[in-house]
Amino acid sequence: MTLRISIIGFGAVGQGVAEVLMRTNHPVRVVAIADSRGAVVDSCGVDLADALQRKRDAGTVATTDMTAIDIIEGVDHEIMVETTPTEMATGGIGLIHIKKAFEKKRHVVTSNKGPLVAKYSELCRIARENDLHFRFEATVGGAMPIINLSEEILAGNRVLAIEGVLNGTCNYILTRMDDEGVSYEQALGEAQELGIVEADPTADVEGIDTVAKIVILANSVFGMDVGYEDVDVTGITKITPEAFKLAKEGGYTIRLIGEIQDGTLKVAPKMVPRNHPLNIGGTFNIASIQTELAGRITIGGIGAGSIETASAILSDILWIKRVLGD
Ligand code: HSE
Repeated sequence: MTLRISIIGFGAVGQGVAEVLMRTNHPVRVVAIADSRGAVVDSCGVDLADALQRKRDAGTVATTDMTAIDIIEGVDHEIMVETTPTEMATGGIGLIHIKKAFEKKRHVVTSNKGPLVAKYSELCRIARENDLHFRFEATVGGAMPIINLSEEILAGNRVLAIEGVLNGTCNYILTRMDDEGVSYEQALGEAQELGIVEADPTADVEGIDTVAKIVILANSVFGMDVGYEDVDVTGITKITPEAFKLAKEGGYTIRLIGEIQDGTLKVAPKMVPRNHPLNIGGTFNIASIQTELAGRITIGGIGAGSIETASAILSDILWIKRVLGD
């Protein structure tokens, strides 16, 4: 059976989902796409090339003034893909969309961190009570498959600790400052040109985005029930070229590291030996997972970006498809 999905939010990630579905040949039909200005709906399958072109030309995908809520409520489909901009404090509009989708008995796949940071346990409970799937691999590490790896591939093998570089923007800035000695401001400007920086750059450089990812990992992989306020956070804005010089002399670099260890959650810049696996460069993310039986497993990947993040969403969609027996 062809699985029907909606894409709610048609920014970089939502467009990436349309792109990857066009490039691949999976029996997944997009029956509606919504952005903040309207929507396009077609129960036979939205023409994705057309939708992407309209978004580029007109700044909106809309051919009707239907809203995201109208689509979630009134258009028949199995999976709602939520890719609206994140709002960390309250969960924002994404939280409303996800709750509405569950109410209408739709499975949810999302890249939106905010709803998970604000209401993880409540959303999981609603999904469980309604026999619905709730998948969010794309929220942490873009293309890097850390949540599903820890929960499924490593099933039966308790995860004891995770530490990692989980923010591409900060890692890019720190790499440029270290390698080329460029100023913090210049490196931030370059990262913005790459299109990976959050709408509010403080979310990246003050460590907020990394905190969100640590909260999501703590709740999903470690079964904790924590929120933003449970993480001790220091950002990268105060790191000077002199700090890099001193680190270099000792054989170290500086990376923003998020860690979960012995029930403690922390995000802070750390000295990392130059030959250490966490000394990854550029926009890459990397995570080292300490397991009970398999020792240390380290994975890396592109931590942000339209197609890369969409690849994680596609894998969650196809997981649901498989589990539903389609
Ligand atoms: N701004 C984030 C980053 C995007 O730089 O990693 C992915 O969450």
